[in-house]
Amino acid sequence: MRIVLGVGGGIAAYKVASLLRLFTEAGHDVTVIPTEASTRFVGTATWEALSGNPVSNSVFDDVHLVNHVRLGHEADLVVVAPATADLLAKAATGQAGDLLTNTLLMAHGPVLFAPAMHTEMWQHAATRANVETLRGRGAAVLEPASGRLTGADSGPGRLPEPQAIFDAAMALVQSRSDYQLPLAGRTVTISAGGTREPLDPVRFLGNRSSGKQGVALAVAARNAGATVRLLAAHMEVPAPAGVDVQRVETAMELREAALAAAADSDVIIMSAAVADFRPAEVSDTKIKKRDDTADPVITLVRNPDILQELVEQRNASRAGSGQLVVGFAAETGDSQGDVLAYAQAKLQRKGCDLLVVNHVGMDKVFGQDSNEVVILSRAGSEPQEASGTKTEVSEAIIRRISFELNHVSPRA
Ligand code: C5P
Repeated sequence: MRIVLGVGGGIAAYKVASLLRLFTEAGHDVTVIPTEASTRFVGTATWEALSGNPVSNSVFDDVHLVNHVRLGHEADLVVVAPATADLLAKAATGQAGDLLTNTLLMAHGPVLFAPAMHTEMWQHAATRANVETLRGRGAAVLEPASGRLTGADSGPGRLPEPQAIFDAAMALVQSRSDYQLPLAGRTVTISAGGTREPLDPVRFLGNRSSGKQGVALAVAARNAGATVRLLAAHMEVPAPAGVDVQRVETAMELREAALAAAADSDVIIMSAAVADFRPAEVSDTKIKKRDDTADPVITLVRNPDILQELVEQRNASRAGSGQLVVGFAAETGDSQGDVLAYAQAKLQRKGCDLLVVNHVGMDKVFGQDSNEVVILSRAGSEPQEASGTKTEVSEAIIRRISFELNHVSPRA
């Protein structure tokens, strides 16, 4: 899930670091928006380090990204903690003086306020009215905990414990009948990394795939609510938490795992770089370097095209089931044709529903963190471009897949 965590200017801001950890450890992508006042208690460096995302509290940073619109629209959940009397008042009256209050006005998903303030402020008629207004508009406002406050006083006004806020936030998301993560209840199988085809016990034929794209897709699908199975060939990055990982080595092993996993998957994404050929013979012992024999010759045989077989399996046994098969194509243009023309031909040949096309060169795509792709659809809709980090591109691909599953009629 994408969560916006607004931090208000109260001493309890320091406890929100633990709340942030609970969110990130559960696999959520959190953008922290601290108010100016809150940065006097906890600095932005803390939020950046703990969230792994850039932090700003001004609408005038990165203006070209129109952050208040983007963050509000994209957030699956907005949590404000501590929600000070001032922030509750601003939210209730629709003020928009900084990035957090702007984002609150743009939020589409559920919003949770976790108040913290002195008892008199919480019980003041003005605050009561603001809380009622916010609740009346559908926001969840937690009751503050009772106990020792910052000065000598005690009473209701303490920030609820981070775990209690976390639990309330998750329950809020679940309870919104009008709100569901786009891939909730779906199973998505993703192949990632590069296969290795053995020549002998120590040597193999491999490729440059790092697995970053497949892993980013697995994270995006998981965050969209899917049950994710990652079929991991050789990868240079660790597998993410919260997904079921099955390790494979060769194209033939991947084929077996993919055909089995696809049988009960709603989506299968072949982002692995599968070797097209494997050595015809695998020596049981290390091939020796000897001066008295001719140079060895490696004969290759073709590997089956797994993607094509997945489409055939779907069409044979699950026709009309709505299973979506997605392929990747790393293409280079040449004098005979451009990248997209080659990719269109590949899409028709393989028969998959969507084909994500990368334009590759030695310095592009493989192992890089950013990417530029075009998504082609067999149904013939306009090619869709997506660019940015592999995370951003993966989120765009997963959004498109969600759209196809939820709004487009079953595939043949
Ligand atoms: O034909 P090409 O290798 O360019 O196609 C790339 C797409 O096909 C990727 O989705 C890749 O995972 C898949 N593929 C496959 N089996 C192969 C070769 C590629 O599934 N033997």
